[in-house]
Amino acid sequence: MIIAIDGPAAAGKGTLSRRIAAEYGFHHLDTGLTYRAVAKALIDAGQTLDDEVAAEAFAEGIDLAGLDRHALSAHAVGEAASRIAVMPAVRQALVRAQRRFSEKTPGAVLDGRDIGTVVCPQAPVKLFVTASPEVRARRRFDEMVATGQTADFLSVLADIRKRDARDTERADSPMRPAEDAHLIDTSEMSIEAAFLAAKTLIDAAL
Ligand code: C5P
Repeated sequence: MIIAIDGPAAAGKGTLSRRIAAEYGFHHLDTGLTYRAVAKALIDAGQTLDDEVAAEAFAEGIDLAGLDRHALSAHAVGEAASRIAVMPAVRQALVRAQRRFSEKTPGAVLDGRDIGTVVCPQAPVKLFVTASPEVRARRRFDEMVATGQTADFLSVLADIRKRDARDTERADSPMRPAEDAHLIDTSEMSIEAAFLAAKTLIDAAL
């Protein structure tokens, strides 16, 4: 059983994915962490972000079991990830690892930008989780303030829009809902309500 969850940053797909994985006892992979890990490996090695050969080598060597969310959470790493995510050779290597993960039993929840369209187009349940840029920026901003970081709402909003543009306009695997994806707009919906909507769809497919 594969559950594919796509959508832009801060739409709530991570929380929703973890909640679904816990409910059904499925494995969960946040595929954004795989792009972040490659970006961070480049940065740590002192390589530039346009070094495709080095980026591909790091992608080939990715260890999904070793992904550390905390170490990869920095804003700069997310920005760098969206830059190396335009490279087809990097995507091919990471997609191979993601597909292997999706075969885990009894099931796997994968979240990202291209799970329903490219990584697992055969997934019986596909969700596209979204929210307005303003709502997503507000969530990011509140999170930053809560963790003691200095934040400026308008620059957070500008960053969200820039990341959206890079993810939707790239030539290889742009972010878009699969034709058979169910749209869940969390702009005015609690995570619990989103979970219940998802659960109804999953139960129908089991
Ligand atoms: O979701 P997260 O912010 O961790 O993702 C970081 C970046 O990795 C995204 O902005 C996107 O460019 C890239 N990404 C991707 N395909 C995925 C997951 C993430 O291109 N399946």
